[in-house]
Amino acid sequence: MTATPAAADVVVAPSRPPRFRTAPLAIFEPRRFHDDKLGYLEATAKVGPVVELQFGPVRLYLLREPADVARVLVQNAKNYGKDTIGFDALRIFLGNGLLTSEGEFWRRQRRIAQPAFHHRRIEGFAETMVDLADEEIGRIEEGRRSGPVDLAHHMTSLTQRVAGTTLLGADPDADVDTVGRCVEVLNRYVDHILMSPIRLPLWIPTPKNRRARWAGRTLDGIVAQMVKRRRAEKVAGDDLLSMLLEARDEETGEGMTDAQLRDEVVTIFLAGHETTANALAWTFYLLSTHPEHQEAARAEVDRVLAGRRPTAADVRNLGTVERIVKESMRLYPPAWFIERSVHEDDVVGGHRLRRGALVGLVPWVTHRLPHLWDDPERFDPDRFLPEREKARPRFAYFPFGGGQRLCIGKAFAMMESVLVVSRMLQRYEIELADGARIEPEPLVTLRPKHGVPVVLRPRSGT
Ligand code: HEM
Repeated sequence: MTATPAAADVVVAPSRPPRFRTAPLAIFEPRRFHDDKLGYLEATAKVGPVVELQFGPVRLYLLREPADVARVLVQNAKNYGKDTIGFDALRIFLGNGLLTSEGEFWRRQRRIAQPAFHHRRIEGFAETMVDLADEEIGRIEEGRRSGPVDLAHHMTSLTQRVAGTTLLGADPDADVDTVGRCVEVLNRYVDHILMSPIRLPLWIPTPKNRRARWAGRTLDGIVAQMVKRRRAEKVAGDDLLSMLLEARDEETGEGMTDAQLRDEVVTIFLAGHETTANALAWTFYLLSTHPEHQEAARAEVDRVLAGRRPTAADVRNLGTVERIVKESMRLYPPAWFIERSVHEDDVVGGHRLRRGALVGLVPWVTHRLPHLWDDPERFDPDRFLPEREKARPRFAYFPFGGGQRLCIGKAFAMMESVLVVSRMLQRYEIELADGARIEPEPLVTLRPKHGVPVVLRPRSGT
C-alpha cells in the first residue's frame, strides 16, 4: 500500500515560465520590442509573473512581482551579475566604474566612495544646489521672455552643474552643452547596440560608431581636465574627487591609476546628473498638467519657507513636494529597466531560470501593476503617505534599484529634486505649452523625447 502524502509534503516541481513571442522568428523579436518597448513590456506582464522571451540567441526572463525582484536584487543577489549585453555596452564608455564593476573590486571602490554620500555631507551640498538652481532660473528667465521654455533642457544643464560642482569640484560652466550632446549620443549608441542583431566593433568607421567615438573621446577630455586641475591645486577638497584621489590600497599603499580614476569620475558625472534631470523633467510635466497638485505643493512651500531660500533642514517639512517627486518616478522611472545575468539555475516565482540567460526587472511595469497600485495610470502623490507606503510590499517601488547595488546617489537625488522643485514653485506658475508633444523615450534612461516645453508665469512679488 502506498502512503498518500499530506498536502504540506507535496512539492511542485519548478516549471518553465510561459513564453511570449510576437514575431515568427526569434531573430525578429528585438525589432518588435524596439518599435514600442514600453507597450511590449506591458503586454508581457499580462502573460504571467515570470515570462520567457527569446531575443535571437539570447534568452531573457522578465519578472514583474516585488517578491521576485527581491530574490534577484537581495536574497540571491550573488547569483545575478552585470555581465550582460547592456552593461557591456555601457562599459565601452564608463569602463569599470562603480555602476559597471563587480566583485571585490566593486566592493573596494564602493567603500572608498561611500563616505562622500554620507547624509551630513549631502546636506552640506544644499546651499550650492539652491545657488545653482537660482543661476539656472536666471538662464530660464532669458529664454522665457521669448516664449515657452524646455524644462528638460534646463534640468539637464542644472543637474550637470550640481554633480560637477558638489561631487567633483569642477567649474560649473565647463562644457555643459557638449556634455549634453555626448550623453545623447551615448544613450542612442547603447540602445543601438542592444537592438542590433549584428554588432560592428567600435573601430569600424560607420557614422554611428564615429559619433560614439567622438562622444567617448570628448568626455574623456573633459574628465581628464577636471582631474588635472584638481591635482595641480594640490589642496585636498572634501568632495568625492578628493576622496578618490587620496584613496590608497590597504596592502600596496598605491593610489588609483589614472584609468581607474577616469572610469569612476565619468560614471559619477553621468549617473549623477542624467537620471535626476529626467526625474525633474517628468515631475515638472506632471505638475504642469495637474494644477491642483501644483497648487497644493506651492501652498506647502509658501507655508514652510515664507519666501526664503530652502535649506537642507527644510526638506523634511516639504513632504507634499517629496511625494510628488516619488509619484513622478513611479509613473516615469528614469531607470526603467534593470538587467542581470543568471549565473546558476534558480527558482523564482515557481519557475526555473536557466544559467546563462538574462533577467529583466522593469520598474515601468511593476510600478503599474493594478493589484499593487489602485488606478495605476492616475497621478496621485498621496500613494506615498507614510501609512500607505508601509502597507505596500518592498520592491513594489524601486526607482533606485535595491540590495547591495542600491543607487549610491539616492539621498543626493531626492534632496536635489525637492530643493529644485520648491525653488521653481516659489518663483513660477507652470503650464504645459500649447501643442506640446510629450512622449517617453526609453533609451538607457527614460527621457521625454521632445522635451517638456512649458509657459512660466512669474508669481507676483518674485
Ligand atoms: C533620480 C535620480 C536617480 C535614479 C532614478 C537612479 C537610479 C539608479 C539605479 C536604478 C541604480 C541601480 C542600477 C542597477 O542595479 O543595475 C543606480 C546605481 C547607481 N547610481 Fe543612481 N540614480 C539616480 C541618481 C544618482 C545620483 C545623483 C548619483 C551620483 C551622485 C548616482 C550614482 C549611481 C551609481 C554610482 C550607481 C552604481 C552603484 C553601485 O552599484 O555601487 N545616481 N542608480
